[in-house]
Amino acid sequence: MTSRQILVTAALPYANGPIHIGHLVEYIQTDIWVRFQKLRGNRCLYICADDTHGTAIMKSARQRNCTEQQFIDEMQAAHQQDFSGFDVAFDNYGSTHSPENRELCHEIWGSLEAQGLIRQQVVVELFDSQSGESLPDRFVMGTCPKCKSPDQYGDNCDKCSATYSAIDLIDPVSTTSGEPPVQGEAVHYFVNIEALHEFLDEWTQSGHHLQDEVANYLKGHFLHEPLRDWDVSRPAPYFGFDIPGTDGQHFWYVWFDAPIGYMASTKQWCERHGEDFNDWWKSSQTEVHHFIGKDIQYFHCLFWPAMLKTAGYNLPEKVHIHGFLTVNGRKMSKRDGTFVMAATYLKHLNPTYLRYYYAAKLGSRLDDIDMNLDEFQAKVDADLVNKVVNLASRAAKFVADTGLSAAYPDDGGLFQQGAAASDAIAEAYETCNYSRAMRLIMELADRANPYFDDAAPWVLRKDPEQADRVQDICTVALNLYRQIMVYLAPVVPELADKTATLLGQPITHWDDAQTPLTGSPVATFKHMLKRVDAKDIQAMIEESKEQAAAAAETNNEPAVADVAAATGDSAGPLQAEPLAEQCTFDDFVKVDLRVARVVSAEDVPEANKLLKLTLSLGGEERRTVFAGIKQAYQPEDLVGRLVVMAANLAPRKMKFGLSEGMILASGGGGKEVFMLGVDEGGQPGQRVH
Ligand code: 2FM
Ligand code: ZN
Repeated sequence: MTSRQILVTAALPYANGPIHIGHLVEYIQTDIWVRFQKLRGNRCLYICADDTHGTAIMKSARQRNCTEQQFIDEMQAAHQQDFSGFDVAFDNYGSTHSPENRELCHEIWGSLEAQGLIRQQVVVELFDSQSGESLPDRFVMGTCPKCKSPDQYGDNCDKCSATYSAIDLIDPVSTTSGEPPVQGEAVHYFVNIEALHEFLDEWTQSGHHLQDEVANYLKGHFLHEPLRDWDVSRPAPYFGFDIPGTDGQHFWYVWFDAPIGYMASTKQWCERHGEDFNDWWKSSQTEVHHFIGKDIQYFHCLFWPAMLKTAGYNLPEKVHIHGFLTVNGRKMSKRDGTFVMAATYLKHLNPTYLRYYYAAKLGSRLDDIDMNLDEFQAKVDADLVNKVVNLASRAAKFVADTGLSAAYPDDGGLFQQGAAASDAIAEAYETCNYSRAMRLIMELADRANPYFDDAAPWVLRKDPEQADRVQDICTVALNLYRQIMVYLAPVVPELADKTATLLGQPITHWDDAQTPLTGSPVATFKHMLKRVDAKDIQAMIEESKEQAAAAAETNNEPAVADVAAATGDSAGPLQAEPLAEQCTFDDFVKVDLRVARVVSAEDVPEANKLLKLTLSLGGEERRTVFAGIKQAYQPEDLVGRLVVMAANLAPRKMKFGLSEGMILASGGGGKEVFMLGVDEGGQPGQRVH
């Protein structure tokens, strides 16, 4: 097969915060794909950069009392360190604040202007009512105008992916002051994307440039109606590139120059390597592949191809889109310590674990991937350590003196079976179906281990006459191990390097899995990978919690966005049960809520859900309440607690006795019941207003 020329990008991370394990889903996924392509013998570049422009960066630099340049330089150094800690190997890591990017922005802008696609319009903008500053989209939150999800940013909705202006949000709030913003006017520049509608219809719906679900989604949500002009400018002051001919009064919006950063970063690589930039971006010989998260598909599948088309550059061969990371079934949460920064992870755990675990979870669809921490430990231990690395460690020690047998022994066809799996595994990598690739590879390990266990060389080696047999068994085992490691090399490069040291042969090509090694020396086995220690996971979570708490403390009045991020609070409960109809104060005070102390709590054996509580309202006043909290609380844990009860409800006759009120709790029932408590100092009998 002739070699392909492939240019691969991952989304450019914003330079206003550190890399976390959610980001790493994408950078690791992409790194695996690039390493796979390189191992197959393709010419492949992995290009990335920091996305550095916008008001958010300006504000962060101001807060830190430094220049934007200092701020983004520091952030870039931190990002690069995090990535390299996870063996994410970019061929070039640039910055959107580079001369190359400015030049390319000018050129592409020139093409858009030359084709009459730019117009100006006065738009109403939002300003912070307290500071008077213009509010960038990400500094305004409110309800999505399209799907009505609450707590959405002012540029796009993470629930339905709609893009809009902050001004379109319902009930907007400034995240800097927490106050509703005020409106003002400014001139903006717009790109007429609708002029490219026909092209976008064609490009998105044919040629497999997008996963089917993405193509359908774009058709159903955006391309079925005229595309709205795209607002690509922001008035000064703004950290970015000023638009030519506007006297520094107007700047390109960060989303205009960010994807052009893919090209600018490639240009830097070309300059360093004496290559022609046009061979990568203006050549039918090159396939461009973008990897992105599902929240930014609109930008990459509509605006970006439209810009490339207009300026005459290569269109993406494919945009690979993945879902988000959840941890233990929930959104990453600072409060729970599951919002783990890359650097924090690296302090406690080996990056190889995460690379393998993500690979084992990633399919080619857009589903979110869940990192269940127990499963993380079990999977890495069972697969990587027990099935793969142990095979090498058990076999290597018996042939450290002799090396491998001179001829490859009869292994009952195992190596051949492994060689024959090459195409299926390659196909799974190619289509980003890494979970399938990992399953196929582990099937090889599942055959290799019983071979070794049944042959039991540790028994045979006691008999000197069996020395050749022992050498043969270990030659087979180490070759089966190496074959597995060739296939796993894109995922766990560090283990592949250690394998090369052990067997004296680097893994340089996918087809290394086709030919067994013979007659070569075997080094003394050096430790490769230890089992995951649950204590290390716990320590990582604890440290993440502490970091979040410390960050919250230095920020006395957390912005709306910070609250959502810090607590991980989802919009789900309110959506599931919208607010009831408005009531008057008089309605409210009809219900007499009182503090009560639980004086006894007992099981009602005949009932699935009920506990019988005796509540004290102070003095001699007692009430009996049957509460549906059995699955969530142990009776003995309740005695002595202060609760809130609706004390004037008409008593209700139940099968097990009379219930004289209700205690207040939230949650959907079953184990998900959360009783309301009363802070210290509250006393039974006090009214709750
Ligand atoms: O969503 C983000 O984090 C953006 N910084 C991604 C930009 S990708 C590309 F267009 F630059
Ligand atoms: Zn929405």
